[in-house]
Amino acid sequence: MKLLVLNGPNLNFIGIREPEIYGKETYNDLCDYIKKYAEANNIEIEIKQSNHEGYLVDFIHQAYFDKVDGIIINPGAYTHTSIALLDAIKSVNIKTIEVHLSDVTKREDFRQVSYLRSACVKSIMGKGFLGYTEAIDYFLNK
Ligand code: DQA
Repeated sequence: MKLLVLNGPNLNFIGIREPEIYGKETYNDLCDYIKKYAEANNIEIEIKQSNHEGYLVDFIHQAYFDKVDGIIINPGAYTHTSIALLDAIKSVNIKTIEVHLSDVTKREDFRQVSYLRSACVKSIMGKGFLGYTEAIDYFLNK
């Protein structure tokens, strides 16, 4: 089992940005947490982050050539704007789960739209780091 975890803009700033929303743990803490869980479950996992929409599209395309079994994506603010990411997910036909640290349904109106959601098999939000491991569990049929 090979999974790609993809994090979008400003996620590299968790621990610093709006800790009352995203918590005090850093991006490195998040990566360590995901890697440990993947290791314990014998999964090959790659974690990538970019603040640039086009790079995220490229990473999704690369997942196709790398024969990735599943994508876990936190698209950050691109969730609410990006048709390009929606099209990328549809293009590669790889099962994808959308994850958000915060519960976007309880936040501003502009966060109520997710352009990607219709192409995802599941959306997990408001569970902090746990959302990522819940997404891994989905791919493990746990
Ligand atoms: C986020 C929610 C988005 O609305 C926001 O733009 C982010 C982070 C989350 O993880 O809660 O950058 O995706």
